[in-house]
Amino acid sequence: MTAAKENAARGALEYVEDGMVVGLGSGTTTAYFVEMLGAKMKDERISAVGVVTSFDTEILAKKAGIPVMPLEGKVDIAIDGADIVGKRYVLKGGGGALTREKIVDYAAEKFIVIADEGKADPGKSYPVVLEVVPFAYQYVMGEVRKLGLEPELRVGGKKLGPVVTDNSNFILDCRGEVKGEPEEFEKILNVIPGVVENGVFSKYWKIIIGNETGHYEI
Ligand code: A5P
Repeated sequence: MTAAKENAARGALEYVEDGMVVGLGSGTTTAYFVEMLGAKMKDERISAVGVVTSFDTEILAKKAGIPVMPLEGKVDIAIDGADIVGKRYVLKGGGGALTREKIVDYAAEKFIVIADEGKADPGKSYPVVLEVVPFAYQYVMGEVRKLGLEPELRVGGKKLGPVVTDNSNFILDCRGEVKGEPEEFEKILNVIPGVVENGVFSKYWKIIIGNETGHYEI
């Protein structure tokens, strides 16, 4: 698994050029990419600036020697992981960083998804993740049930009570299918009052899949 994640990250590294503003996603696969980008900058004496999608990635980027900047406009390329790679969409949000991820990934001229082969297994399922305003979470749960999803409030592992995101919101993990056109479903979820963002990502440039021996694009 580790090699597969590393290989996916290595595949994305080839697309980073000197002077780029690079959107840095979140998660364990992206963590490999961040480490590799830092090393590439030192080895090849190139410069790049990161736009981070979570506090976690900010810490990793600084450790890797990558300067970070706020999202101010142009992002040349964004590299980010996924929990499921579907046919016409990816599902994200396992790390609760989906809102900033979607902002940065969609703001980028090119958004590359990196994932180990297990994420592309058609038998794998993952919930549709929603970031919601705490005040509205029970109302949102009712609304998503009407769409055929079964929501659950995410609770912390090393903290009592709900997970609170980097944006001070709650997370709902909603079991069920992405219905109809992924792009439409993504929009439908976001018009529920109280939903900040959802984990259906229907727009990307390419997906790089890593396995034990290398990587390929789909
Ligand atoms: C963070 O909210 C997620 O979207 C991650 O990008 C996703 O969960 C992939 O994480 P891993 O690379 O750790 O599997």
